[in-house]
Amino acid sequence: MTNLKEIYENRRAVNFFDKDKKLDNNTLENIINLAVLAPSAFNLQPWKIIAVKSEEAKKRLHPLAFNQPKILEAPVTLIIAGDKAGYLPDKEAWSTFAAQAGKEGTEGAKQFAQILYDTTEERKIKFAESNGGLLGMSIMYAAQYYGVDSHPINGIDFDGIQKEFKLDENQNVVMLIALGYFDKSHELYPRLKRYNYSEIVSEI
Ligand SMILES: Cc1cc2nc3c(=O)[nH]c(=O)nc-3n(C[C@H](O)[C@H](O)[C@H](O)COP(=O)(O)O)c2cc1C
Repeated sequence: MTNLKEIYENRRAVNFFDKDKKLDNNTLENIINLAVLAPSAFNLQPWKIIAVKSEEAKKRLHPLAFNQPKILEAPVTLIIAGDKAGYLPDKEAWSTFAAQAGKEGTEGAKQFAQILYDTTEERKIKFAESNGGLLGMSIMYAAQYYGVDSHPINGIDFDGIQKEFKLDENQNVVMLIALGYFDKSHELYPRLKRYNYSEIVSEI
């Protein structure tokens, strides 16, 4: 599907995945490599992904997602993690920013990032989760482009997943995204109402 409007209109949180349809690795790589064009603060890309593919790993994740069946049914579930410390001056990703901004510009940006994010725990979490959330959305639309269905999941034990999958203490679990193919033997519930411009926008 190449039309962006259609991609938006057709993406759904698909509750039932066809257990017999695998997601080939090449398609998964294509999805991720397209999705990483998502924007991030200072282009720091403070995210990591664990692709839960094996039956053994799915069984460990399942109870940590309140036994939602899609964890076992989807061929792959991604754990999206955002790095609360991803703005610190020693992070390698600053090199991607420096390639354009130069040494002096990058030093200034590093200081600015410290002011923006280093002051409170809440700001660190905001940094990790806003960037990680954008990656998550980008993955779901990239998946749709490659004809793959998705489901975002936050009905989870965030800390439990962080521990069970041995994520660094700064790597906050942002969300899970199940990927695969809709099981057409089920009916997808109708699209729920969205609030439109006049309902959510106030002009000033
Ligand atoms: C951050 C986030 C967390 C969600 N968590 C769950 C979940 O744990 N279980 C579930 O069944 N649906 C979950 N959903 C799916 C939403 O219910 C769904 O996206 C919404 O009803 C709109 O439906 P649509 O995506 O098909 O348009 C989640 C969606 C988002 C964005």
